[in-house]
Amino acid sequence: MNTYKRFAARIAGEVDAVVAFSPVNRRWLTDFKSSAGYVVVTPERCFLGVDFRYIEAAKKAGEAAGIEVFMYEKQLESLANLLDGLNVGTIGYEEEYMTVAQFKNFKNALGKYKYIGVSKLFTQERSVKEPFEVERMAKAQEITDKAFMYALSIIRTGMTERQLRNEIDSFFINNGADGNAFESIVLSGENTSRPHGVPGDREFRTGDLILMDTGSMYKGYCSDMTRTVALGYIKDEAVEAYNAVLAAQEVALNSIKAGEKAVLMDKTARDLLASYGWTKEFGHSLGHGVGLEIHESPYQSTVSKDVLKAGQVVTVEPGVYFEGRFGIRIEDMVLVTETGIRNFTGSKKQLIVV
Ligand code: GLY
Ligand code: MN
Repeated sequence: MNTYKRFAARIAGEVDAVVAFSPVNRRWLTDFKSSAGYVVVTPERCFLGVDFRYIEAAKKAGEAAGIEVFMYEKQLESLANLLDGLNVGTIGYEEEYMTVAQFKNFKNALGKYKYIGVSKLFTQERSVKEPFEVERMAKAQEITDKAFMYALSIIRTGMTERQLRNEIDSFFINNGADGNAFESIVLSGENTSRPHGVPGDREFRTGDLILMDTGSMYKGYCSDMTRTVALGYIKDEAVEAYNAVLAAQEVALNSIKAGEKAVLMDKTARDLLASYGWTKEFGHSLGHGVGLEIHESPYQSTVSKDVLKAGQVVTVEPGVYFEGRFGIRIEDMVLVTETGIRNFTGSKKQLIVV
């Protein structure tokens, strides 16, 4: 577990200590999940403060990783005492997480330090995965691939979107996942034209497209995959769109490597779909980073300033959507490497008719 050590090295020279309250940054630094608590990182040390509910488990997990774990009764009072003892002058805080009221209380309790926002340092560092994080994400995707195979085996006419969604969600839990990485999306027929539609009681019919955007979470880490399949047969109007989306995804996947601008990845897919005359039909961005959060840095969009780095995990998810008729999206999750990608996604993406 090197995340807090890497972060400690990263903050040296910028701040004397960082205080993290957000669940995601606390989890990333310590690999310990709790609903409340705080983490303090200095260039040399990492402290985890939790309340009575978590102390036994936190001690076991944290101390094995070299983290100094203690219990507090009054959170801000204990934090002020800890910082007093550390002889620090500049404190990094999560300006993109704390509310104005929380920041006010925090400053009042701590005293007259110099405060510097470090949310961007967290997002940048979290975007590059450690080997243990990569393996968890691979496992999360493996469970998602198995859930897709299971879904294919049970899809039938008369089943509803919600029924299939529930089956996929149960499969995740029953096959070693923590649960969902996000609310599973299962859409059918004309509902597939809504990129993030909500599964409802529509029953599957022969000739429907069925879009499944699902991902399991494994030991805190997310996966994300979309597949669109046809039930019984595929209507002619959808064949060209399916092949175009697949080609757009392939060209974008082939453009990825460390040092590539994320905006160019988006452009390769967007240009390909534009060559079919589909511009407004691809109305969302090409993809996003994934990790402890389903959407995190870097972002592949028309306005992205991100440059890809080896160790980042991103999705590639072009789609086209024709209002009131149908939509198609194909999404893989990949690791960026120096020379290209490692694609975590094992599910077939040539058109499947079930
Ligand atoms: N698969 C969910 C999302 O990317 O928003
Ligand atoms: Mn996605």
